[in-house]
Amino acid sequence: MTRTASRTGPQTTPEKITVDLGNRAYDIFVGQGLIENAATYVAPLLKRPRVTVVTDENVAQHHLDALQKSFADNNIISTPFILPPGEKTKSFEQLQHLLSALLDAGVERGDLVIALGGGVIGDLTGFAASVLRRGVDFAQIPTTLLAQVDSSVGGKTGINVPQGKNLIGAFHQPRLVLADTGALTTLPPRQFRAGYAEVVKYGLINDPSFFDWLEANLENTRSGDVTIITKAIVTSCDAKARIVAADEREGGVRALLNLGHTFGHALEAATGFSDRLIHGEGVAIGMTMAFELSVSLGLCSGQDAVRARRHLSNAGLPTRLSDIPGDLPGASALIDLMAQDKKVVDGTLTFILARGIGDTFITRDVAASDLLSFMTDQGTA
Ligand code: GLY
Repeated sequence: MTRTASRTGPQTTPEKITVDLGNRAYDIFVGQGLIENAATYVAPLLKRPRVTVVTDENVAQHHLDALQKSFADNNIISTPFILPPGEKTKSFEQLQHLLSALLDAGVERGDLVIALGGGVIGDLTGFAASVLRRGVDFAQIPTTLLAQVDSSVGGKTGINVPQGKNLIGAFHQPRLVLADTGALTTLPPRQFRAGYAEVVKYGLINDPSFFDWLEANLENTRSGDVTIITKAIVTSCDAKARIVAADEREGGVRALLNLGHTFGHALEAATGFSDRLIHGEGVAIGMTMAFELSVSLGLCSGQDAVRARRHLSNAGLPTRLSDIPGDLPGASALIDLMAQDKKVVDGTLTFILARGIGDTFITRDVAASDLLSFMTDQGTA
């Protein structure tokens, strides 16, 4: 999937979605020009005219000046912290480094910390904010499609450890999310495709008409049609906002958002959280595997699994283990990695399985022998 649209100039009226969490409710704005106009949205949240901005080297190149100019124009002092890009930044080492830097910079309990970047920056910054002085406010300015439709919304924050992804973290809701669709035009196509996997997820879990719409509009998405991409982001954020408001701490329905993630996280761990497989790609393969597993258990029609795979593949995403470059561990080793999943209860894995497109459910009833034979059939000896 490649896009040709260029960043458009002035801000148009953004769409607003509210995550209804009572006295911790917050708004997500989606639209063009939000970075250049960030101070308008951020200022009402400040106790003093001062913010810190955490970002990475790549995002800083494209967006930091515009964001800082917005603050400077509104007499708000902004202090940037620029971290290395990449999944490896979600580490204890970088967390410690960031927390020390925030303390050294005099960030107070009442201050606002801003995450400007993709899921890595959002997750790390949110976690740092959750523990700094026992919790400071933070805002998300997601600059990748994946962060705009998923990770910046809902308050899951954390870091990776060798045992697995996101195993150390906290629920800490942002005070505000600004999803500037203009930022997507500077996103490498591979990152855009990876984020698109999370968009498709909302159709697959419980919204078959959204999946139909995504199929019908794939060419428009590929060509960078801002109206279509904005609608896809708004529909995704709206779905996520409703699920998070109903089940903030994942006691039930929120687990549907993990479709494909048990497989995907294991594959990310197996590939060392490296460029061999980025998160959304792991989710694309994982969602396809969840549909295939559902077919093998007699729960879902083969046609629906083919349709899910075809759409992800037409979007340029990997859908098979053989699409991952290099060697993978065998079936048992991958299952061991899956067992590190946060959703393991009494040693039993939780799966999101499908009865069809837009009809998924949560289950712990997958027998170890069925899983082993399924994983072996996937080509992992
Ligand atoms: N990314 C899944 C969730 O936020 O629950």
